[in-house]
Amino acid sequence: MRINLKVWRQPGPTQLGKLVDYAADAVSADMSFLEMLDVVNESLIRKGDDPIAFDSDCREGICGACGFLINGVPHGPDPGTTVCQLHMRRFKDGDTVILEPWRAKAFPLIKDLVVDRSAFDRIIQAGGYTSINVGGAQDGNSILISKPTVEQAMDSAACIGCGACVAACKNASAALFTSAKVSHLALLPQGGVERQRRVVTMVERHDAEGFGSCSNEGECEAVCPKEIPITNIARMNREYFRAMLVSRP
Ligand code: SF4
Ligand code: FES
Repeated sequence: MRINLKVWRQPGPTQLGKLVDYAADAVSADMSFLEMLDVVNESLIRKGDDPIAFDSDCREGICGACGFLINGVPHGPDPGTTVCQLHMRRFKDGDTVILEPWRAKAFPLIKDLVVDRSAFDRIIQAGGYTSINVGGAQDGNSILISKPTVEQAMDSAACIGCGACVAACKNASAALFTSAKVSHLALLPQGGVERQRRVVTMVERHDAEGFGSCSNEGECEAVCPKEIPITNIARMNREYFRAMLVSRP
């Protein structure tokens, strides 16, 4: 296949960016999207040009490092799929594909398709520690938790922190990410000790980082590669209101 790429090129945060045309030739349907970009970059390097900057690490859909807009959709056209797991068989010979970075004030651009997502790290840091008396393995196993609760907590913990939810939201809200992180500890007895303090400090950090408010439209859920449901946002709001009523940390 031959794929016509229009890629956002921007040398740095203070320089102007623009879409630049590239042709990806001899693309195999079995290549992943990032492998296709690797091949384009190898030919750019051979010509002495600057390769396209993009993030990736595991390339197995588990680390959250990859992610950019493909024709305006975070991670591209396949539901529940990170861009590193997207395959070129999803495209046709001659297709034009537009690549742009996440666009949100709280994710400042570093270069080309790479943005700074350290705001997510600061939200998690704001959550602080959990006080768990770990004891022995036997003690851990003696804390009984119902199967549905365990499953919900595990599903929330599946968030990989990729930022697609922010990129899809017209308010650039990180409510889905923050609520997944709040939920997976709030649901379990091990997260109970700092439960109220945690939700307040994480929500306050979310707002301070410049993310917008949730207006409940579900764009985040639609593009999340881990299919995190927006019911987490409702849970985070309940946790937050309860914490504010009971005590200020
Ligand atoms: S909630 Fe989904 S889209 Fe948002 S950071 Fe987590 S995995 Fe990515
Ligand atoms: S590179 Fe790790 S999730 Fe895509």
